[in-house]
Amino acid sequence: MNILGIETSCDETAASVVKDGKFILSNVIASQIDLHSMYGGVVPELASRKHIEAILPVVRSALKIAKLTLDDIHGIAVTGKPGLIGSLLVGVEFAKGLAWAKNLPFVEIDHIEGHIYSCLLSHSDIRFPALALVVSGGHTDLILVKKRGVYQILGRTRDDAVGEAYDKVAKFMNLGYPGGPKIEKLAKEGKVIHKFPRAKMKNDSLDFSFSGLKTAVVNFLQENKKVNIKDLACSFQDAANQALIERVIEASKKTGVQRVLLCGGVSANMTLRKTLEDICGKHSIKVFYPSLELCTDNAAMIAAVGYDKFKK
Ligand code: KG4
Ligand code: ZN
Repeated sequence: MNILGIETSCDETAASVVKDGKFILSNVIASQIDLHSMYGGVVPELASRKHIEAILPVVRSALKIAKLTLDDIHGIAVTGKPGLIGSLLVGVEFAKGLAWAKNLPFVEIDHIEGHIYSCLLSHSDIRFPALALVVSGGHTDLILVKKRGVYQILGRTRDDAVGEAYDKVAKFMNLGYPGGPKIEKLAKEGKVIHKFPRAKMKNDSLDFSFSGLKTAVVNFLQENKKVNIKDLACSFQDAANQALIERVIEASKKTGVQRVLLCGGVSANMTLRKTLEDICGKHSIKVFYPSLELCTDNAAMIAAVGYDKFKK
């Protein structure tokens, strides 16, 4: 069964064909980074206009790389939420139109579930229950995955997403967009010398908060003109990563679940992967993450969820 996946929730126009929910036949991503980097972040109106230009060539190219035509496709899956409304509309209306014209089944997919499936696509051996930490530019969610398609949200950010904090701190450091990879690169040459605040929640809550950390770093930058930005990047990254890891360990203790799926754009951060793996190792928790090309937004993960929904 060949599923065509389409993803346009933010600033990537993506299309992919996935066979039987696990074999990626194509995975095409047209990034808009160059367009948005001059503004230091995604400009929603520009993003939707760019999706309109890119969607047709991207879908054509996904079919071509898969060596298939629309007649070989058995269903269309598209990200329906959450995301930028104008961007989502382009993908959803395009997918609906195509499904209608070709008389194909159509399903809308939750982007967060897509990120969880990016991990399942990369590892066929994951058993359940598992804890999923979805960390990206728009989301920071800690989810109990009881089995494929059955989820319980344990905690989420009350303000900024962790990727958003990376991006905003990078913007104040004049590093450009997206900030995550740039901060990670600088941090490799720096040391943790600043102790930035980490939010603690009341009543055993597994929620996150990153706006205090972001503001502390931005204030520090404004008050100290001669700051070593490598050490600052390293100190910020450490505080952000530790806040994520602490909650994962707490969630594992609370639920007794000893498998963690780290997914979403921030899961590309090698320091986060390594530190999480080290600390989880001490608690006998096994960590899984997607292959690097599936960490950030893509349509293969959307097609993979689509396959399970169509089967149901
Ligand atoms: O999953 P994604 O492509 O889009 C959303 O669903 O939001 O994630 C993008 C986010 C951006 O905030 C970007 O800065 C962050 O992922 N990111 C990273 C790294 N690579 C991407 N953050 C930290 N370290 C990285 N290496
Ligand atoms: Zn995403």
